[in-house]
Amino acid sequence: MKDKIVNYLSDLQKEELKDATALENFRLKWLSKKGIIQSLMDEFKTITDVQIKKEIGKLINELKQQAQIIFDEKKQEFEKHQDIQIEDDLTLELNLNTSGSLHPLSIIKNEIIQIFSKIGFVVSDGPEIEDDWHNFTALNTPPDHPARDMQDTFYIDIEKQDITQDIKLLRTQTSSIQIRVMENNEPPIRIICPGRVYRNETISARAHCQFHQVEGLYIDENVSFADLKTTLLYFAKEMFGSDTQIRMRPSYFPFTEPSAEVDISCTICSGKGCSVCKHTGWVEILGCGMVDPKVLDNCGISSRKYTGFAFGMGIERITMLKYRINDLRLFFENDIRFLKQFENEC
Ligand code: DAH
Repeated sequence: MKDKIVNYLSDLQKEELKDATALENFRLKWLSKKGIIQSLMDEFKTITDVQIKKEIGKLINELKQQAQIIFDEKKQEFEKHQDIQIEDDLTLELNLNTSGSLHPLSIIKNEIIQIFSKIGFVVSDGPEIEDDWHNFTALNTPPDHPARDMQDTFYIDIEKQDITQDIKLLRTQTSSIQIRVMENNEPPIRIICPGRVYRNETISARAHCQFHQVEGLYIDENVSFADLKTTLLYFAKEMFGSDTQIRMRPSYFPFTEPSAEVDISCTICSGKGCSVCKHTGWVEILGCGMVDPKVLDNCGISSRKYTGFAFGMGIERITMLKYRINDLRLFFENDIRFLKQFENEC
């Protein structure tokens, strides 16, 4: 292993990084999760001899540091170069006719609202800085409930807070709005709640520390699972086209019983199987279920008289499926070349 790392150290010096693409390839090859250094680390873990481990660990560190230095320096160089080019090009034509357009997430959010408003849902809103009660406890997720681990939470200044007061946090789900609306209104309630949510996740192509959800809630006398299914089938067909099918899989959420996850037939291969649907023909779009009677009671609504359904979906997920976008980070970088592609969509 020692020889291998020494060879890598000399390979590293031979890398030619001519442009930003070469730099990205360099990052993937050396520094990414599937890169050379990570695979050495994995191999390192299997070494049992302490002395060898020490020696190899040192070499891997050296390799990692050198790769990082090369990457950082080149990156800075390319960025500087780019700025200079843009600032110095006085011949660029001034286009005063450009106008802004909606962000793809806003386009899809508006479409979701429009689809549900046609069947009587109205928009409700709530705060992004929430308290523990609305985000968790009232949703049948008390402090020691294992389901809290499903959502890694950003707490706000937890040390400074008086423990007799409710702890403040960044909401992890728009389900908190359900509680606020139920506490303050009598059924029938039929709401749709779009909003931003936060989770302590490492940023990658599939996860982000901030994203957007739409929550739906319908409470009345005699609301049934059949109503839920019909509503979601209607939504899927409006959003993804009239041929779209849905399927429901049993699942678990603390605030609904029974709970389900809903898949739509893959919009790319029409259910035949492709890489997007991982050859299953189906892709997941949301979670849902019948509101747990405990949640109704927590909000002062009689669970003897009323029943209801709820659902929650990620706006990013729907947008990615609709526009075939494969990296979540694109939504937050605001690269004009990405955003311009949606100019004509609204
Ligand atoms: N709040 C859930 C989440 O963020 C999504 C969800 C699932 C919302 C089921 C619901 C529901 O209202 O019934 O993962």
